Amino acid sequence: MLQSKKSLTILGIETSCDETATAVIDSNKGLIAHSIFSQVTLHKKFGGVVPELASREHIKKLLPLIDELLRSNDLQLKDIDAIAYTAGPGLVGALLVGSVLANGLAFSLGIPSIPVHHMEAHLLAPILEGDDLQMPFIALLVSGGHTLLVEVQKKGSYKLLGQTLDDAAGEAFDKGAKLLDLDYPGGPAIAELALSGHPGVYQFPRPMLKTKNNMDFSFSGLKTALMYKIRKLNKKQMLTDQIKADLAHAYEEAIVGSLIHKTDTAIEVTGIKSVVVAGGVGANKKLRKNMKLKLAERDAQVTYPRIEFCTDNAAMIALAGLFNFQKGIKNIDYRIEVNPRWSIDKIYSANSQL
Ligand code: KG4
Ligand code: ZN
Repeated sequence: MLQSKKSLTILGIETSCDETATAVIDSNKGLIAHSIFSQVTLHKKFGGVVPELASREHIKKLLPLIDELLRSNDLQLKDIDAIAYTAGPGLVGALLVGSVLANGLAFSLGIPSIPVHHMEAHLLAPILEGDDLQMPFIALLVSGGHTLLVEVQKKGSYKLLGQTLDDAAGEAFDKGAKLLDLDYPGGPAIAELALSGHPGVYQFPRPMLKTKNNMDFSFSGLKTALMYKIRKLNKKQMLTDQIKADLAHAYEEAIVGSLIHKTDTAIEVTGIKSVVVAGGVGANKKLRKNMKLKLAERDAQVTYPRIEFCTDNAAMIALAGLFNFQKGIKNIDYRIEVNPRWSIDKIYSANSQL
């Protein structure tokens, strides 16, 4: 699937948000190794990612991480044929750190640098598992920064079916967790607390479910509804641990329910019966279980890359970089350009914006 006559070795760099990550992929042997430094503890006390701190941490961690990855795999910089890096979407400062390093290093080594679209990398990540990814498929990309439904006809052909109009699904989990005084990242914290919640005690809104063929999402009303509920309960001094768990249960149900409903709509509209879920929220157990059940009603299949390839990582960046390289896409003049709002359906159009 990756095979080429002369093997190509690509170094991948990911710095779009709060994960500093690097990887090496070989076009004939597949993924050689990857490593991730998570900044979660740094951002925990702020209840979310602080962009300036994220950039500074990438500056500190990226080079030592690359150094260590190469050394522990008996590789040297001279073994690398090209450097792939996330050029967007993401936090502008964080993206710039990766772009500056990738382009500087590539220039000094006299090898190409390859800009990669972060979300395209997410949806190609299942290829890292070695299975041939069946095309076409519908990708549900759900992370702290994005919530998208994309129709993938083939590699490089992406149609945006729907996206969030406000908060991303992961962001909704993180903001909800903050309101409930839970740790960051909020997704796992809410999921854990929800386990001891009673179903049906509370019900939160699921916007735009009734609009026919609509595949957009909206989560900001949900967060506001939780905030008002907590305020009211606090006033009456009724916010017990059990009630918090009941709220977490209803909150998780609402997010997961929306994601499943819109994915089901995408299957109905496109007739495509294969779904790939990627991004950090794809780790949610309720989402995994309920999505499988719902899709089975339509005889549709859902696959998930393993968790380490589901959340932000550089293995997927190196892989997407390799495909780009094989297509001849590279940053020929080492421009330090990034696009924090790069839309997935504009990657290969004339006005690609990069
Ligand atoms: O893809 P990711 O690692 O990073 C980016 O945001 O790009 O996703 C992180 C997001 C966070 O918002 C986190 O709360 C959410 O994924 N998340 C979860 C779970 N694990 C991580 N959300 C729900 N349930 C989980 N088990
Ligand atoms: Zn991501």
